Amino acid sequence: MPADRFVEQLNTQIGHEFAAHQQYVACAVYYESLTMPQMARFFYAQALEERDHAMMMIQYLIDQDAAAFVPGVSAPQVDFGDVVAPVELALEQERRVTAQINELTKIAREESDFASDQFMQWFIKEQVEEVSTMSDLVAVVRRSRDNIEAIEEYVQREQGRESADPTAPAIAGG
Ligand SMILES: [Fe+2]
Ligand SMILES: [Fe+2]
Repeated sequence: MPADRFVEQLNTQIGHEFAAHQQYVACAVYYESLTMPQMARFFYAQALEERDHAMMMIQYLIDQDAAAFVPGVSAPQVDFGDVVAPVELALEQERRVTAQINELTKIAREESDFASDQFMQWFIKEQVEEVSTMSDLVAVVRRSRDNIEAIEEYVQREQGRESADPTAPAIAGG
């Protein structure tokens, strides 16, 4: 069994991941409203990844015979001042999640919960990628804030579909 402190904190994190899903859907819808289909596609895909993170955490708790709770989430931000705002919010969110993932890893180590420590390693790597992707995107969108087509071209060119990651934890429901 994983440590109680870890289970409690991981359940909290499941809520953060589902909230991130909702937030990214809201970002996608905002870009749809500006007729920016590439940015919308990017955020829909990011939203799905966040949903998968939550479902990986649920699957881990199920596998470990620990209690998994499906939490409610607070409403996402849906109004944005300009094209830069959703990406800045996304970068801030990814940095916050990185700190949360690090804290979960710290708890697993403090509790000598080695399986949970190992489970967190994939998320540590994932956060490095997500922060990097979002900070690149912030730079591009800030630079091209008055040239929507340049933003769309960048996303189409640089943010293609990620290939499947065989090292990723199992997702509840498959
Ligand atoms: Fe996530
Ligand atoms: Fe993320």
